[in-house]
Amino acid sequence: MSNSARIAVVTGGNRGIGYEVCRQLAGKGLHVIMTSRDPKKGITARDRLRSEGVETEFHVLDVNSNASVTEFFHILNDHHGRIDVLINNAATHYDSNQHASDARMTVILEAIDTNLLGPWRTCQEAIPMMRRQKYGRIVNVSSGAGSLSEMKGGTPAYSVTKAALNVLTIKLASELDGTGILVNSVCPGWVKTDMGGPHAPRSVEEGAKGIVWAATLGDDGPTGGFFRDGKKIAW
Ligand SMILES: NC(=O)c1ccc[n+]([C@@H]2O[C@H](COP(=O)([O-])OP(=O)(O)OC[C@H]3O[C@@H](n4cnc5c(N)ncnc54)[C@H](OP(=O)(O)O)[C@@H]3O)[C@@H](O)[C@H]2O)c1
Repeated sequence: MSNSARIAVVTGGNRGIGYEVCRQLAGKGLHVIMTSRDPKKGITARDRLRSEGVETEFHVLDVNSNASVTEFFHILNDHHGRIDVLINNAATHYDSNQHASDARMTVILEAIDTNLLGPWRTCQEAIPMMRRQKYGRIVNVSSGAGSLSEMKGGTPAYSVTKAALNVLTIKLASELDGTGILVNSVCPGWVKTDMGGPHAPRSVEEGAKGIVWAATLGDDGPTGGFFRDGKKIAW
């Protein structure tokens, strides 16, 4: 199947790394569905890409809401009948101001809802469609902050939820082995965005590249791994 017939969905596509992933996937010829929880922000982002000659389709998707996820996948099924690539990019609460010993439970719960349950919800909707077509690429955008081998104190809500997201990657990849659906975690590195801050050394272009690599793996590509810049890193 040609790239132009491939449908790619990006969560949190209205800014930061997700926005750049939309641009790069569209540049490779995929039909990109940019999603955002906020229709205004999403339409503005889609129009900004359009003004640069990059076409994407926009739909609302709030990964915290079961109803929003279900509705989005209904629309996707009606309009396209398939999903080839799912980029679970949306995330929240890089809580560098907190410690595990006294972190606010509201922040922890919100982080679990967005960073872990969000990807879990979208995967549960996407996988039956991917199974039908015997093809799928799921990229869980994770972080070195969730790597157990590097784990220290700090950013408790963020680190715990990214470590849990990595476990979800392993579970899904194992369950889907041999189905044509590849599931991987990717760390974009420390990237200049609202989350990464102005002092981050990497551009969004550099950060997005490794995500796009995992989204466009060939049939013999890896599954159940954790990657940065296309190279395996420790869980
Ligand atoms: N930047 C870094 O240095 C870095 C490092 C390692 C990993 N990462 C990971 O890379 C990914 C992108 O990060 P970023 O730096 O681009 O972050 P960002 O600039 O803060 O953007 C986050 C995006 O997620 C969206 N989002 C948050 N909650 C959502 C929800 N409930 N439903 C749908 N969308 C939601 C935001 O939408 P709104 O505009 O509506 O808030 C925004 O589009 C994240 O998974 C992050 O953990 C980033």
